[in-house]
Amino acid sequence: MRKIIIAIDGYSACGKSSTAKRVAAALNYGYVDTGAMYRAVTLYFMEHYIDLTNPKSVSKALGEISITFHHNDSTGQNETYLNGLNVEERIREMEISQRVSEVAAIKAVREAMVKQQQKMGKSKGVVMDGRDIGSVVFPNAELKIFMNADFDVRAERRQKELFDKDNLVDLDEVKENLRKRDKIDTTRAESPLIRPVDSVEVDTTHMFLEEQVDHIVQLATGEKVNK
Ligand code: CDP
Ligand code: CDP
Repeated sequence: MRKIIIAIDGYSACGKSSTAKRVAAALNYGYVDTGAMYRAVTLYFMEHYIDLTNPKSVSKALGEISITFHHNDSTGQNETYLNGLNVEERIREMEISQRVSEVAAIKAVREAMVKQQQKMGKSKGVVMDGRDIGSVVFPNAELKIFMNADFDVRAERRQKELFDKDNLVDLDEVKENLRKRDKIDTTRAESPLIRPVDSVEVDTTHMFLEEQVDHIVQLATGEKVNK
């Protein structure tokens, strides 16, 4: 079957990456978590005290960063590596969530990430999730999904996800972080989160994960969708 690009964009914690991973597995496609890339850049910038207002420092630091994904056979998941080190757990911490949108709003950072993402999807057969995949990275993607869910549901899902990883975070803190990131992500000058006109909206508020996955797989394979 002809391989396509599936772009999944949307707000934080509405189910993009959980869905994208499963859709990729069902179709035997690759999966790219672009949020992990911005998180890894943020970690590097924080560890090296990069001055975000200094374009020279930012550009130099970007040249020092290598982000790769490797499959972990025991968990069955792809994990994020920064300059050869596994940072998968570290980049999900609140400290990174609190800084990532500020870093992701920098033009040079976006240009560097978009270039890599376009390379990763060159041969198609990929599911990529983020904020600008259908609008900037792959404006010609064959299937674009715009995912959303009610704010409180998103916050509860993210808190539970963190709790399951022994990361106890107050619900109010999660809400505050989502609110702040939604605002920066939708209002920044460089490729803000928008809903592409040719995207299919999927509201996961009242859905089970499996339903989202089936729905998108059916759209991708051209099967009739009755849900
Ligand atoms: O998992 P969650 O949805 O909370 O966030 P993420 O997908 O890991 O993305 C973290 C942050 O990276 C977002 O809040 C955006 O600021 C930024 N991002 C972006 O600007 N463009 C993308 N394609 C992906 C993420
Ligand atoms: O990638 P994004 O930030 O949009 O969300 P996610 O990290 O994939 O999903 C956040 C949490 O919501 C995960 O723990 C999912 O298992 C859970 N969830 C979901 O994705 N879809 C549902 N219908 C219900 C829960």
